[in-house]
Amino acid sequence: MNIAVVGAQWGDEGKGKIVDLLAQRFSIVARYQGGHNAGHTVHVGGRKFILRLIPSGILHAGVTCVIGNGVVVDLKALFEEVDELATAGIAVNGRLLVSDRAHVILPYHRDLDRLSEASLGARMIGTTSRGIGPAYEDKAGRRGLRVCDLADGAALEELVRDGVARRNRLVQDEALRWEDVLSQARELGARLRPWVSDVSVALTKAMADGRSILFEGAQGTMLDLDHGTYPYVTSSNATVGGACTGLGVGPRSVHAVLGIAKAYTTRVGEGPFPSELLGAEGEALRAKGHEFGAVTGRPRRCGWFDAVQVRHAVRVNGLDAVVITKMDVLDGLAAVPICVGYRVGDEVCDEFPADLRRLQRCTPVLESMPGWPAATAGAKDFRGLPPEARAYVERLEELIGVPVLLISTGAGRDDTIVRNEPLAAAWFGSALSLA
Ligand code: IMP
Repeated sequence: MNIAVVGAQWGDEGKGKIVDLLAQRFSIVARYQGGHNAGHTVHVGGRKFILRLIPSGILHAGVTCVIGNGVVVDLKALFEEVDELATAGIAVNGRLLVSDRAHVILPYHRDLDRLSEASLGARMIGTTSRGIGPAYEDKAGRRGLRVCDLADGAALEELVRDGVARRNRLVQDEALRWEDVLSQARELGARLRPWVSDVSVALTKAMADGRSILFEGAQGTMLDLDHGTYPYVTSSNATVGGACTGLGVGPRSVHAVLGIAKAYTTRVGEGPFPSELLGAEGEALRAKGHEFGAVTGRPRRCGWFDAVQVRHAVRVNGLDAVVITKMDVLDGLAAVPICVGYRVGDEVCDEFPADLRRLQRCTPVLESMPGWPAATAGAKDFRGLPPEARAYVERLEELIGVPVLLISTGAGRDDTIVRNEPLAAAWFGSALSLA
């Protein structure tokens, strides 16, 4: 059985831990979009790993990891990650495939990202400054450099010269020399060569051989280029459709879709956030949840769980179930509000609006649930949770209309509750062991 794991909010939902937890059940973990703007944090054996490009499955010896054509690859960032893993004793060689159709992020994309943000002024997106948007712009503009071009001397030189010339025209300086960009691309391209593969062919063959795939999304539904809070989004499809286009597999290859959502909501960067808490309550969630970006260190904006927004994620991804993460961060609150609708003028709407102006006028309709004085931190059993915490999870299930499969109560692999054992057994063949 192949499962897609997608972010159901604005990213940073804790996908890294969940993919790591489930990876041992799969032969392959395949990443389908985004780039090193992602930061998937995984705690294993007292060590903390932040994976940006390589799927979190790499931490399990028998798992093959795939970077699909839908990903934009910064080769320098990729090899920094490979080297960091090697230092920790984790060999990537022979376990990583990179699509020959993936687009490459070059140093000028980073400069263009900064330039684009500066030119937007007050409308800036608050990007991660990694060159993600400009690399996808080049892809859509049909002037991008793909992994397969790295092996062709003449094509590589032409694309790099054109790219650097365009950058120098736009940035209005000559700080970047095409010769330097070319020699670095050549060197890193040669190092990448053994891992380059036609990923669509490899995955199709693997499925025919009965191997299972976990499709790993980065960012989250509300940062999706089509279904998120446009224009305050990333430049790829983080929703499940991206798994098919970003890896070259058909929709029937995805047998189930699992959304990951925090027990509350966070977002980094600019853009609308209807259930945001601007005062002390937001700061308290940020401090308790360590809500600072894994990649950029920026403070994350915090707010209550937004059922309107998560229902949108359920619909656009066809989610079969969700995982609720960071439940323990809500421990000790007197009350835990949930956003159940948006008030716009005299109306209450329960669908997530497309129109940014309308969205900015939305105020949350809050339903207050009683808090729980006892800790859920580290809990491993649903029945052992305080009754108010159980009631909170049950209410979330009612509001979003899909079951909660797992609940995460801490950073470690085993700080996890299997909330829905029959579903876990149906998906994973036997009761899901979290040890
Ligand atoms: P970009 O992906 O760097 O172009 O940034 C676009 C928007 O997506 C910004 O608001 C970023 O903060 C946000 N973003 C990108 N990647 C992530 C992520 O992995 N987690 C959370 N937010 C992200």
